[in-house]
Amino acid sequence: MHSHRLAAMPRGMTSPIAKPWINAIHAYTPGKAKSDDGRVLIKLSANENPLGCSPDASAALVEARGTLARYPDPASNNLRDALGKTYGLEADQIVCGTGSDELLNLIAMGYAGAGDEIIYIRYGFSVYDIAARKCAATVVVAPDKDYGTDVDALLALVTDKTRVVFVANPNNPTGTYCNDAEIARLHAGLPADCVMVLDQAYGEYLDDDGPAAFDLARKHDNVLITRTFSKIFGLAAERIGWAYGQPGLIATLNRIRAPFNVTAAGQAAAIAALGDTEFVTQSRAHNAQWREWMASEFAALSNHGLKVIPSWANFLMVMFEGKLSAEDAYKGLMDAGYIVRWLPGQGLGSGLRITIGSEDENRGVMAALRAILERQA
Ligand SMILES: Cc1ncc(COP(=O)(O)O)c(C=O)c1O
Repeated sequence: MHSHRLAAMPRGMTSPIAKPWINAIHAYTPGKAKSDDGRVLIKLSANENPLGCSPDASAALVEARGTLARYPDPASNNLRDALGKTYGLEADQIVCGTGSDELLNLIAMGYAGAGDEIIYIRYGFSVYDIAARKCAATVVVAPDKDYGTDVDALLALVTDKTRVVFVANPNNPTGTYCNDAEIARLHAGLPADCVMVLDQAYGEYLDDDGPAAFDLARKHDNVLITRTFSKIFGLAAERIGWAYGQPGLIATLNRIRAPFNVTAAGQAAAIAALGDTEFVTQSRAHNAQWREWMASEFAALSNHGLKVIPSWANFLMVMFEGKLSAEDAYKGLMDAGYIVRWLPGQGLGSGLRITIGSEDENRGVMAALRAILERQA
């Protein structure tokens, strides 16, 4: 019966066709760990913590393996309590996610659809583009200012269709930081029904941990802060992120998130990681020390046309404006055993993003780069 009815219907298509706005998406390109010919490389391409994670977190993760047959706590209650205590926030205004990636996608889905607009800067985090397109929203890309957030440029693009503005602060891939006064000015210029997302994946690398963002989210019902355990806490493999905002915003994300979106092991590891403040302090200090060292090394190579963009995160974006191109440097570093990030697809074909690694990795990648420059001279 069914087949008869279907056969009578003119379909005209022989295989499923994805929606045009889905077909327009360029899938996320992850930081590589291997060379094009399959060699395992020293990975400075994904902004992971070179010190690993807290030993307390790995111990908690191993212990949580004992309960594999049970679903995790769907509300991540203990983790949200621990986050509330650590950051001085209301636990019921926090939602946890499968990495902050999940939450960024949910924010777009919850507040924008066909005919709505989502704005971010040209060198913003690449997931914003996917998150916006996925829900059929129109992507509006603002120009940057010195590779970072330009508040006036963002505000100039706001229309009555704008529903979400994404700002990574510090920004990935450029490492730039937009100060509190500028962020407050951006917020003040946005319509009340537009969600301002402050993506603070690298917030813990700031000297003061960026508390002004939380204050803004506490005071206004259109501000969401997203954070992650993938960076300073070194738990990228477990996929744990969280968002903080007013109850209305958090209720939206809870309505559409996956029910069991953070694993039991992930919740346990994250709670233990929050408890090991020494590891976080040590990671922040390591990053500050070696970021400064790397930046001064790059500055010393300015005669070769290298220009380093000041960074507030755990990586540096270096522009190659001399004889050696970023592409050739990228390939040369790969030959020497280092994988960094080259992002021509994001309009950054003349730059390389290099994660701050261990002392050996930092010294090694700089020596390799110097050797490439010498060979070329
Ligand atoms: C700015 C920014 N936001 C969000 C994320 C996503 O992190 P995760 O999904 O691991 O929490 C990243 C990861 O690189 C990032 O750089």
